[in-house]
Amino acid sequence: MSAANQQEAELPGPATTAPLLRIESISKRFGTVIALDDVGFEVHAGEVVALLGDNGAGKSTLIKIISGSLEPDSGKIFFDGQEVRLASPAAAKALGIETVYQDLSLCMNVDVVANFFMGREHHTKFLGLKILREAEMQAETEQAMHDIGINIPSVRASVEHLSGGQRQAIELCRFVHWGGRLVLLDEPFAALGVEQTRRGLDLVQRVKKQGIAVIVITHNMLHAFQVADRVVVLRHGQVTGVRDASATNPEEVVSMITGEWTRQASEQEPGPGQHIQGEASPSP
Ligand SMILES: Nc1ncnc2c1ncn2[C@@H]1O[C@H](COP(=O)(O)OP(=O)(O)O)[C@@H](O)[C@H]1O
Ligand SMILES: [Mg+2]
Repeated sequence: MSAANQQEAELPGPATTAPLLRIESISKRFGTVIALDDVGFEVHAGEVVALLGDNGAGKSTLIKIISGSLEPDSGKIFFDGQEVRLASPAAAKALGIETVYQDLSLCMNVDVVANFFMGREHHTKFLGLKILREAEMQAETEQAMHDIGINIPSVRASVEHLSGGQRQAIELCRFVHWGGRLVLLDEPFAALGVEQTRRGLDLVQRVKKQGIAVIVITHNMLHAFQVADRVVVLRHGQVTGVRDASATNPEEVVSMITGEWTRQASEQEPGPGQHIQGEASPSP
């Protein structure tokens, strides 16, 4: 048995497989503000990582870098073991990396099927005309929604009549259906009610079970612990803690977010706590 076969025979899991995404020493400044300072972490296929940190910690900046909306000043990004340059959202998307927002990328005045196939429509040529294969696309959309456990009244409903949670579910389902591999969610439940949030959390679990990697930013510690396998904490642009969710608790994570934990730890080793940012003193 070759080494590769042997590896496959073992139970796949974050501890035994190579990471899908690995970032190394990522730094990003905006003028005098250091948004990210030497940030590194990894995410595996089928793993949910919760990215936590106070306002201004650098979470959104990091998500934008991973999704190709912003380029870092320095650092490396590896995807599938290869170093990559994510110079645009299209470049990230081509690798299967995408941010799913609540409704930014859906077309409100057309139905779910049209949104699902946007830019990828099935056509038939007839007398020189392009005819959309509507029935086929509807069936494929319904199947995809069914497979991932999303219930909406009709895929022929215009998206504007659906709730925020349903729109998010459609986007996630579309992402999975078209070969997505790493999905980034920036505060996905912020505008959702209790029931929609519960469904959203369930959906994240089902997406993960399909082998997709998920990075989710949330302020809600309860949500983080409900979905995450691992917790990564950012503070003042630096990673101040990485924990298996099962090996930490909300109190410890809060102390990493606020810096309390760093101050305690720095009694044993020098910590990154001296990094002070000028949010209160905007550059001229
Ligand atoms: N486009 C920008 N121009 C200037 N400063 C920015 C910009 N984006 C983010 N920042 C600053 O970078 C820091 C990190 O911001 P952000 O990544 O949005 O944090 P978070 O999402 O954790 O709240 C903050 O100090 C913020 O003000
Ligand atoms: Mg943010």
